[in-house]
Parts: sequence; C-alpha cells; structure tokens
Amino acid sequence: ERLAVDYVEGILQPTPTCDTWVQIWNFQARPDDLLIATYPKAGTTWVQEIVDFIQSEGDADRCHRAPIHDRFPFIEWKIPFLESGLEQAEAMPSPRTLKTHLPIGLLPPSFLEKNCKIIYVARNPKDNMVSYYHFHRMNKALPAPGTWEEYFESFLAGKVCWGSWYDHVRGWWDAKDQHRILYLFYEDMKENPKREIQKLAEFIGKSLDDEILDKIIHHTSFDVMKQNPMANYSSVPAKFMNHSISPFMRKGTVGDWKNHFTVAQNERFDEDYGKRMADTTLTFHFQL
Ligand code: PPS
Repeated sequence: ERLAVDYVEGILQPTPTCDTWVQIWNFQARPDDLLIATYPKAGTTWVQEIVDFIQSEGDADRCHRAPIHDRFPFIEWKIPFLESGLEQAEAMPSPRTLKTHLPIGLLPPSFLEKNCKIIYVARNPKDNMVSYYHFHRMNKALPAPGTWEEYFESFLAGKVCWGSWYDHVRGWWDAKDQHRILYLFYEDMKENPKREIQKLAEFIGKSLDDEILDKIIHHTSFDVMKQNPMANYSSVPAKFMNHSISPFMRKGTVGDWKNHFTVAQNERFDEDYGKRMADTTLTFHFQL
C-alpha cells in the first residue's frame, strides 16, 4: 500500500508534503541554520553524517545520539501520524541542521532571506536515477516505480517526486553565486573524501586536525555507515521502508548505471542530456 502523490506548482510531490504546503513556505529559518539540499538519492545522508561529525569534531558517541532523520529534520516531510519535519525543526535548538529535497523554486524563502548556509550535493544523473529507482521499490511512502523501463521514462520526463533532475541541479547551480551555497558532487566525495570533508569543514567554519579528519573519513565511509543503525535508516518502521527489498545503504558506488541501462537507453539518455544541458556551465562526471 502506497501513499498518494500530487502536483505542487507543476512538481510532483508525495501528498504528505502537499497538505502542509502553506506552512512549509511560511517556515521561518534562523540565520544560523545549516541546510542540506539535494535531489533525492544524490548523497544526502552521507553529507549529513559528515556535517554532524565535523560539528562534533569527530566525537562518534555524540553522532550516535539519534537516528539521522532526527538529527536533521526533513522540512517538507510528513508521514501520517508521525511528527512532521516542520514540527521537528521548530522544536530543535539552534544551531539547527536541516534537510530538504525541494527544488530552489519551492524552497521556503526565509532560508535565502536570512542568508543561511546551504550545502547542495549533486550526483551523476545516471547513478542518481538507478539509486532512486531502487529507493522507490523499498520506500512505501513513494509511489511504486513500475518496471525499470517505465521508471526510466518517468525520470527523463521529470514525472517523479521532487520533479525533474535537470531543473533541480540547474536551479541550485544558477543560485549558488548569489547565496551562501556550497555545491558539491557525489563523485568528488568518492574520489577524494578528505578533500571534500575539508571543503565542508571550511564552509562550516571548523578547522580540524589530521587525526580528527581521519576519524571522520572512517566513520562516514559507506561500510561503516551501512552497519550504523543511527545512519542506515534501519529504525524506520518496516511498513515504510523495507530494507529486504533493497537496503537504504545499497551499493554506494559510482557507475552502477552500467548494470541497469541498456545500450539503447544510454544513447537515448545521452542525446536528451545533451539537449537539456547544452546551455549551462554545470558539468558532471560520466563514464566513471
Ligand atoms: S535520500 O533518501 O534522498 O536522503 O538518499 P541519499 O542519502 O541522498 O542517497 C542514498 C545513496 O547514497 C549512498 N550512500 C553513500 N555512498 C557512499 N558513501 C557513503 N558513506 C554513503 N552513504 C549513503 C546510498 O548507498 C545510496 O546510493 P546507492 O547508489 O543506491 O547505493
């Protein structure tokens, strides 16, 4: 049994977010809020864990205090009968760490008005699509994905929750120089986690010695996070997330699209991508 979806300003959203939409737009950010914004499955949880470890200066006990979804309220999220992301955020003492998947056009304006720091993460769209497909299979709060072939078409058409991947990454890219936005890439984090963690620490305003950095690299690695009940979403009730269909911490690799895309799909994707990204300076690592 799945929850329903609806369009908000032309963008497909799970209905739990729709019935509180005005409240979401009226959300009052605080100047010291730190927001992590992503298209779903781009590396949100990974960056959340890194951010918490940076703020905790490598203190694993502190980072294990609560599940990741409680440490970072998901502002537009509402599951019936559970506390909403907005309620969680309002109850959180400052400085708050928050999560959103909203495209910049649907973001509560207060975040930009208060000049909050925002971390955006983008991922190679082919891997992002594959990860999102498997997430739809296991997460009952999202619509059923249909077959891989059907899902591939829905993704290209932007008819998936939180809308078009293209609009999302481009919207945030275009905004990054006018606001305090650090724009990161999943593939860069895989290639050199130390470099990207240092970038994050600098953005957050923490200087970390090598010993702490190494500790953070260890605790935020895929293998360690997969085993960590405070990071792997195993605490979410099984009626919402069924990890035996596909675990939340699924593979954590670059290039898994090659195990899913047919040659024809890949050609179709590249052609569509070429058209839709022709007029932007934003570039992605492909063929990795
Ligand atoms: S969500 O539901 O939108 O918040 O999901 P999100 O966290 O953005 O994306 C989940 C994917 O990120 C992978 N992941 C990681 N990769 C590398 N290292 C670490 N530490 C890590 N943690 C999570 C996770 O496995 C999902 O990708 P796939 O490709 O499906 O494995």
